[in-house]
Amino acid sequence: MNTLKIKYTCRADLVPAAEIIKNGGLVAFPTETVYGLGASALDGKAAEKIYRAKGRPSDNPLIVHLAFPWEAQRYCLTNRLFYRLAEAFMPGPLTVIMPKRKCIPDSVTGGLDTVGIRIPSHPAAHDLIDLCGVPVAAPSANISGRPSPTAFEHVLNDLDGRVDAVIDGGESLYGVESTIVKLTDGEDTVRLLRPGAITVEMLGLVCPDVTVDPAVTGKYDGVPLAPGMKYRHYAPSQPLTLLDGEDEKVYGFLRGRECGVICFDEDLPFVPSAAAVSCGSRDDPLRQAHRLFSCLRFFDGRDDVKEIYARMPSREGVGLAVFNRLAKASGFNVIKV
Ligand code: TXA
Ligand code: MG
Repeated sequence: MNTLKIKYTCRADLVPAAEIIKNGGLVAFPTETVYGLGASALDGKAAEKIYRAKGRPSDNPLIVHLAFPWEAQRYCLTNRLFYRLAEAFMPGPLTVIMPKRKCIPDSVTGGLDTVGIRIPSHPAAHDLIDLCGVPVAAPSANISGRPSPTAFEHVLNDLDGRVDAVIDGGESLYGVESTIVKLTDGEDTVRLLRPGAITVEMLGLVCPDVTVDPAVTGKYDGVPLAPGMKYRHYAPSQPLTLLDGEDEKVYGFLRGRECGVICFDEDLPFVPSAAAVSCGSRDDPLRQAHRLFSCLRFFDGRDDVKEIYARMPSREGVGLAVFNRLAKASGFNVIKV
């Protein structure tokens, strides 16, 4: 298939892409978190095409993207807490899981009776969804198992020739996927299923009771609430190991090793490897999040790099999302030095 490439400068650029989605096709588009691979969320057949293009297991549900929070009640059963979260954080990098209505096909939700709703803030994402006039189901626009795409080039590397169109909207602002919360029975309880740029602390300002699902910080064990949490994710081309320890111990471990290294700005003078890349300053988790997936793709095609080591990040604030992605990228493979 010949993939149409569209440079986003204004809403009018997106009209052909909206037509493709309305007609059951696939369009990769930028969002403020990562690039998404969109299809009509009301068209079960179109959603199935997403799974095929990505090589994604069919039990892993898709997030449904809307232009405005008030549209949510057409597709799911909203409650007061949803509107409080919407007022605080939408449009933005938050996905809220609620019981679905019948109009959302089973192929979109992987057979679950709930649906994840997100209202992206990136102007290209907003305009595209609004022009489509239908909700847009979209997972991250990567081949299943690979790091999520945060740039147009990442999407082309994974999906050129497999989708109808890709929209170039520059680098993603946050660089990690949306925070996912599930609204549980009570009106005042949310459960964090995936950490992102909306932090536990921020959620706590709106909801008194925020619990963090154990799958966020530990290896999947049992039936996860978000099916995606059980799959190996974000894997770079070479095996990745997380190094947990003080500076001197980490530098000592890496000395003389020929490997790829993902570290912080402050480490670069002390890490001799020619294949070292920094994801940002040690105390800047927003920057780390922004760069993380680029760093995980940095070693693609490098035959001289057989293994990659990454420094353990802090879990404070957005750092929890950086830790979660690195832990999953490594398959929870951590060495204490
Ligand atoms: O930032 C994002 O959320 C990006 C952009 C494109 O919006 N999308 C994204 O989608 O990260 P994806 O498919 O890569 O990750 C969606 C995650 C998966 O782990 C999936 O299992 C979970 O959300 N999920 C979706 N619907 C769910 C539901 N009804 N119940 C539980 N988990 C759900
Ligand atoms: Mg994904």
